[in-house]
Amino acid sequence: MPERDAAELLRDAERVVVFTGAGMSAESGVPTFREALTGLWSRFDAKALATPEAFEADPALVWGWYEWRRALVQRVRPHAGHEAVAAIEAQVPQSVVITQNVDDLHERAGSRSLIHLHGSLFAPRCAACGSSAALPPLPEKSDRVAPPRCDDCDGPIRPGVVWFGEDLPSGELSAATEAAFGCDLLFSVGTSGLVYPAAEIPYVAARSGATVVQINPEPTTLDAVADINLRGKAAEILPDLVRKAWPR
Ligand code: OAD
Repeated sequence: MPERDAAELLRDAERVVVFTGAGMSAESGVPTFREALTGLWSRFDAKALATPEAFEADPALVWGWYEWRRALVQRVRPHAGHEAVAAIEAQVPQSVVITQNVDDLHERAGSRSLIHLHGSLFAPRCAACGSSAALPPLPEKSDRVAPPRCDDCDGPIRPGVVWFGEDLPSGELSAATEAAFGCDLLFSVGTSGLVYPAAEIPYVAARSGATVVQINPEPTTLDAVADINLRGKAAEILPDLVRKAWPR
């Protein structure tokens, strides 16, 4: 039974990486990228909004969309899967969480060793001079919202996330690659594995001899390289694995 193997591997692991994507936040109520956007934003394609060009062309539309997402994230809560990831960190001192997600659900569940490869909704910065900016009060309703201006140079404040066509933060990417290279067990949870270079992380672990376990209700490109494919949801499988690895 693959799940028992994964739990035994988890119990015996010395260096664990948990690599997460949008599916990790799905059961908290945060839509994944490949699901249609809902409500006001349903007529937009996320890829069309998450670009420097979109922000340049219509800062209020793009800033408003990210503030809608930040408001959504603040209304939801981490689920048992996020808590299970934090429990793994507590049991395995040399463990690292590498996330493609820009929400703060891992932090709110207690994860501390966390690398955000695609930035965060909670780290806005000036689009002109790069100064970090305070988070403004959330807008009353979800709509176009003119971005605040930079205190230092009066430039427009942008979300602190990585947009299509932009490089990932180099420090985070090298730390994530190093963690994947050095781990003995990597869980890939809730990612379609379509967006590089983040999607390379599980392959780095596999090439360096780590065991790769994938948790996803659907097959993905990673099926071919994962040693164990657990077909299911993050909020169900992760707590089960932790219970089996470390029975109370
Ligand atoms: P996707 O929306 O591409 O994939 C979400 C994955 O989660 C899919 O494979 C689903 O099958 C799976 N999934 C859905 N519900 C799940 C659940 N309850 N438990 C476990 N898995 C579940 O999201 P990502 O792979 O994270 O990039 O997308 C990667 C990147 O593409 C994002 O970081 C973003 C996006 O463009 C940037 O913003 C730069």
